Amino acid sequence: MAQRETWTSRVGFIFAAVGSAVGLGNIWSFPFQTASNGGAAFLVVYLFAVFLIGFPTMLIEFVIGRRSKQNAVSAFSELGYGNWTFAGAIGVFASFITLSFYSVVGGWVISYIVGSVTGGYLGQASTFFGSVSSGTVAIGAHALFMAITIAIVAGGVANGIERATKVMIPAILVLLVGLAAWGSTLTGSAAGYAYYLSPDFGVLAANVGSIVPSAMGQAFFTLSLGFGVMIAYASYLGRDDSLPADSAIIVVLNTIVALLAGFAVFPILAATDALTGSTGAGTAFVALAGAFGQLPAGQIIGLVFFVVLLFAALSSSISLLEAPSSYVVDRYGIDRPKVAVGVGLVSFVIGIVPAYGYVGLFNDFVFNILLPIAVLFIALFAGWIVDADAIKELGQGSVVGSIPGTAPLTTLWLWWVRIVVPIAVIITLYLGVTNFYT
Ligand code: PFF
Ligand code: NA
Repeated sequence: MAQRETWTSRVGFIFAAVGSAVGLGNIWSFPFQTASNGGAAFLVVYLFAVFLIGFPTMLIEFVIGRRSKQNAVSAFSELGYGNWTFAGAIGVFASFITLSFYSVVGGWVISYIVGSVTGGYLGQASTFFGSVSSGTVAIGAHALFMAITIAIVAGGVANGIERATKVMIPAILVLLVGLAAWGSTLTGSAAGYAYYLSPDFGVLAANVGSIVPSAMGQAFFTLSLGFGVMIAYASYLGRDDSLPADSAIIVVLNTIVALLAGFAVFPILAATDALTGSTGAGTAFVALAGAFGQLPAGQIIGLVFFVVLLFAALSSSISLLEAPSSYVVDRYGIDRPKVAVGVGLVSFVIGIVPAYGYVGLFNDFVFNILLPIAVLFIALFAGWIVDADAIKELGQGSVVGSIPGTAPLTTLWLWWVRIVVPIAVIITLYLGVTNFYT
């Protein structure tokens, strides 16, 4: 088999991981989950979930990936725990399923870019959504989105993934700052900021059973955790990076993009009186396109917005395709381009189901069930099963653990992963399953 690829640099790895993290989850789900779960009350719980549960979990995936130098499935056997490969397999399955509906939504974004150019959604936001979100148009756009994803992954980690994300991430940041600045000039923006930023703890108390699982699911999804993606990406790392520092950078950047998206979206919603009541997968598109149709220069702003969304979606979908592909490449030694095409095609075919109106169902299944289960097993594995040597890897080339006095942080992390993360995830899973079936 050919020699295993690596990133060209630490920065290349960080860009790729940020590219995976920053996606539709930040710019599409985050503002609308926040809007439909009570605004700032949701935001508070979400931020706790990201920093207290997501960050330590990301570190686990990085340690497993770098230490094993394997895809998420083989990683467990490589470390000597062959009967835990199921934990990685759940994640790889989650990536595969997620790719199938993510690409459908990516296809919607392509249709909205076209609609911004032709003016197709102006004054008829819901009709337009109806015509592009399911059926033949949706499948065609889904095929196009998947084809672009396959082409990038076929190019390999350094040439394809690293290069693509190095262009897309800065573009996303610049464009979002511009959109947020534009949003601040809209009449009525103040109400949007208030709903977004001042928590109503009464709302939180009354809806804790639905806010907690949504916030946790959103946290895992947005950080690409529980998919085996971060394991696969860390497997292409050299020995000397600081995993805690890298995780911190990725978590913070991902959070900045989500918050910025909120600063762009909330004033737009407030200016067109669409603040509350946004829920399903499509509401976001209808509400935003409706707003763009009403606002000065809305068509151009809409074009910018959907282009940002497309970049973000692509830098994530390539990681969703990479996780299962890297498994097949490692396991069977087949050429990467062939694998990318094969896996992408199967995922495309599965995506035909969500393309007939089941995006929401697929999304809820992944958020509420697959992700918490995958994260639970990964945390139990790292906390209770794997030997302490693998955990010490954390200190390698890093500040934490390798300089005197920081070892207690590693210990704190370990106990956190043993106790706090599993308990939090079990509660989430319980609430999430209850919500899923009601
Ligand atoms: N983190 C991405 C987002 O926020 O849109 C979604 C995602 C990408 C999840 C890649 C999982 C993954 F492996
Ligand atoms: Na994200």
